[in-house]
Amino acid sequence: MKIAMVGSGYVGLVSGACFADFGHDVVCIDKDQSKIDLLHDGIMPIYEPGLAELVGTNVKSGRLTFTTDLAKGISGAQAIFIAVGTPSRRGDGHADLSYVYAVAQEVGEALSNDAVVVTKSTVPVGTGDEVERILRESGTTNQFSVVSNPEFLREGAAIGDFKRPDRIVIGAEDDFGRDVMREVYRPLFLNESPILFTSRRSSELIKYAANAFLATKITFINEMADLCEKVGANVQDVSRGIGSDGRIGSKFLHAGPGYGGSCFPKDTLALLKTAEDYESPVRIVEAVVKTNDLRKRAMGRKVIDALGGPDDARGKKVALLGLTFKPNTDDMRDSPAIAIAQTLHDAGVLVAAYDPEGMELAAPLMPEVTMTESPYAAIEGADAIAIVTEWDAFRALDLGRVKQLAKSPILVDLRNIYQPDDVRALGFTYVSVGRG
Ligand code: UGA
Repeated sequence: MKIAMVGSGYVGLVSGACFADFGHDVVCIDKDQSKIDLLHDGIMPIYEPGLAELVGTNVKSGRLTFTTDLAKGISGAQAIFIAVGTPSRRGDGHADLSYVYAVAQEVGEALSNDAVVVTKSTVPVGTGDEVERILRESGTTNQFSVVSNPEFLREGAAIGDFKRPDRIVIGAEDDFGRDVMREVYRPLFLNESPILFTSRRSSELIKYAANAFLATKITFINEMADLCEKVGANVQDVSRGIGSDGRIGSKFLHAGPGYGGSCFPKDTLALLKTAEDYESPVRIVEAVVKTNDLRKRAMGRKVIDALGGPDDARGKKVALLGLTFKPNTDDMRDSPAIAIAQTLHDAGVLVAAYDPEGMELAAPLMPEVTMTESPYAAIEGADAIAIVTEWDAFRALDLGRVKQLAKSPILVDLRNIYQPDDVRALGFTYVSVGRG
C-alpha cells in the first residue's frame, strides 16, 4: 500500500518510518527543504533513539522516500496522513489549526485518486468535519473519506510505542475509511494490538482525554508528594501502594518537578478551550494546569531553600543536571528546567548546567545559564547540585568525585533517582521529592 505522510516532524517521521518498516511504500512530505535535504543525507532533524537506523534501513530498501512536492508525494497514495503541528495559538491557548487546514486545501487541490485522508496531528473535536468540508469545497471528483487516527507515542520511546501500541484508535464515518485503515494497520492487527473503531469525534476527544488524564495522574502524585513531605511519608511507597490496584495502575505515578513537553501542556490547555466553547467545564483539568504551572517555580524555591533560603542563596552557584523535559530527547518545550533556572536567576543564584542532548536548544531559552561540557564541569565549585531530568548518566554519577568537586555537598534530587540513606551515608545533604 502506498502511504503519504504530510509533515515530517516528530510524529510524521516516526510514523512514516514505522509504516515503511511494516512493508508499506511511504513518502514523507515536508515544506521545509532543509529538513528534506537532511533526511536525504541520512541526518535526523530530531533526536530519537533508533530512528536514524530505522530510516536508514527503509530508505535503502526503497520503501521510504522524502519530498517537498506534495502533489507528487500524494499521487497514488491510498492513505494520506496529515501530521503537521498544532501548536497553542498565540494569545488564547486554542490549538492553531492553520497548518492542518492548509494541508487539507493543498491535498484537495492535488488529489488524483481515491484516498483516505487521516488526521494524525492532535486536533480538537470537530476538526475532521472541517477538513472534510475543505476537501469537498476544493472541487475534487475523487472519492475520499476523512479519518481520525491519534498518535500515542512518547518521545524517547516512540518507535517501541508505535510498533507495540496499547491500542490503535481509528475514528471513521464510513466503510471506505475503516477498510483502508485496517489495511494500513494490518501488520499490527496480526500482532493482536487492539484496534478501536469509533466515530471521528470520539477519536479526536480520546487523544485529549488520554493526555489530560495522564497529566492529572502526574499532578495528583506530585501533590501527594508535597503532602508526604509534610506528614513524614514516602511518596514512592504511596505510589506503589496505590498503583498495584489494577484500577489505578502503576504508570505515571512518579513524583517530580512537574510535567512538560510538547504535548501535555498544549493539549490540556486546548481541552480547556474546547470545554469553554461547549460550555462544559472540565474543572479537574483546570486545576491540573494551574497546579503544574505553579509547581515548576516551586521547585526552584526548593533548591533555594536547600541553600538556606533566599538571603543565603544570593550569589551562590547551583549545578543543574538535566534540562530537557524528560530523558532521551533534546526537546526543551515547557521543560520545568526553564522555570527552575529562571527562579534561581531571579533570586541572584548563578547557574551552571549540563544536559546530554538538550543544551543547544536550551541555551537561547536560558541565556543567564552557563552551559558546561560534562556534569562534573557543572558541579565544580557548586554550592548545590539539582537533578532536574533523570538521564541515565546522572544515575551513575561518581558521588565521591561529585563531593570533591562541589563547594558544599548539597544534592537536590527532583526525580528521586538516588536512595536517601546511600547518599547521606556519603556525607551529602540530600533533598528529594515526597520522601519526608
Ligand atoms: C505524551 C504521552 O505520554 C504520549 O502518549 C502522547 O502520544 C504524547 O504525549 C503526545 O501527545 O504526543 P511525551 O510528551 O513524549 O508523551 O512524554 P511523557 O513520557 O508522557 O512525559 C511527559 C511529562 O510528564 C514529562 O515531563 C515527564 O517527566 C512527566 N512525567 C511522566 C512525570 O513527571 N511523572 C511520570 O510518572 C510520568
